[in-house]
Amino acid sequence: MPSKTINLGVIGAGRIGKIHAENLATRISGVRLAGVADVNLAAAQEVAGQFHAPVATADYRQLLAAPDIHAVAICSATDTHAQIIQEAAAQGKHIFCEKPIDLDLQRIQQALDAVRKAGVKFQVGFNRRFDPSFAKARELVAAGKIGAPHLVRISSRDPAPPPLAYVKVSGGIFMDMTIHDFDMVRFLSGSEAVEVFAIGDALVDPEIGRAGDVDTCVVTLRLKNGALATIDNSRKAVYGYDQRVEVFGAAGMVAVSNRTPENHVLLNEEGVSSAKPQYFFLERYQEAYIAELREFVACIRNDTQPSVGGADGLMACVLGLAAKKSLQENRPVRVSEVH
Ligand SMILES: NC(=O)c1ccc[n+]([C@@H]2O[C@H](COP(=O)([O-])OP(=O)(O)OC[C@H]3O[C@@H](n4cnc5c(N)ncnc54)[C@H](O)[C@@H]3O)[C@@H](O)[C@H]2O)c1
Repeated sequence: MPSKTINLGVIGAGRIGKIHAENLATRISGVRLAGVADVNLAAAQEVAGQFHAPVATADYRQLLAAPDIHAVAICSATDTHAQIIQEAAAQGKHIFCEKPIDLDLQRIQQALDAVRKAGVKFQVGFNRRFDPSFAKARELVAAGKIGAPHLVRISSRDPAPPPLAYVKVSGGIFMDMTIHDFDMVRFLSGSEAVEVFAIGDALVDPEIGRAGDVDTCVVTLRLKNGALATIDNSRKAVYGYDQRVEVFGAAGMVAVSNRTPENHVLLNEEGVSSAKPQYFFLERYQEAYIAELREFVACIRNDTQPSVGGADGLMACVLGLAAKKSLQENRPVRVSEVH
């Protein structure tokens, strides 16, 4: 494939679409932001205008039909991903798709079949794998520096819940939020989960509970390699975006703590204080969002496979569905029960 510039269209100009559009237009070489599509035309026009994309459209099919567009980044609402993947694959476009691929395993399989049939590249937006600290933790675990992993512990808490309208189409906390942590458990441990147990409640906002979701949860997982994992999530941490992991093993532990915008520590007679964690995903994962798209563009250019693909996207959804079933039925669920 082309040593020439890769033309990439962004579908969905919301929170994450804007981040990817900006990175593609300003921070990644060898790629051009060739168009922006959003059912909300004003949103598409705004992002296209800001980052000098030549096309803004309300119909993503216009991008898929353009012969000079090589690839698309699907950043639209979750319930649109599977359909757009199939149409993009049929048009021979390489695909970067935000998580989750879909909420239904059969639809995910259909979408991934379309990708395989078309022979296009497919990368799923598990940006945390590209965070330098988490990538280092994985590298150390894989190199045996902590011995056999026994425990994986992840705390992942957002600073504020998304709007209720988003919650309603998100597939629920496990498919929308915990899904990143399910992927991190697989990534950090290098193993697959065999059993999932989830408890949760709506402690932040009763409206979220009335919408049939929870905003606070704890998930435990038993892994194939014998390790045990725990994930805790909240939709609202008043001190900012709380993103911490530990992998504890027979010969040691690797831990990643929160990042702050700057790292002063004040000590006085009132106590000891420091800056709050970076506010949210835009700040915390800025480098990771750039790195994941750099990899996607490099895979197109060099005809190699993305390190995080369809099978990873599928497995994280499987774990999300297992957690949902566990919460509903208040019991541990074998992964084989849902997949
Ligand atoms: N990897 C991450 O860190 C991360 C962060 C946020 C969101 N996401 C994922 O990205 C997706 C979008 O989330 P968001 O927070 O940006 O949502 P958002 O609501 O801010 O934006 C979604 C945009 O998609 C548009 N849209 C909906 N249907 C469309 C269609 N058929 N064609 C074109 N545009 C369409 C909407 O008009 C909206 O502008 C979700 O699947 C979410 O799970 C990932």
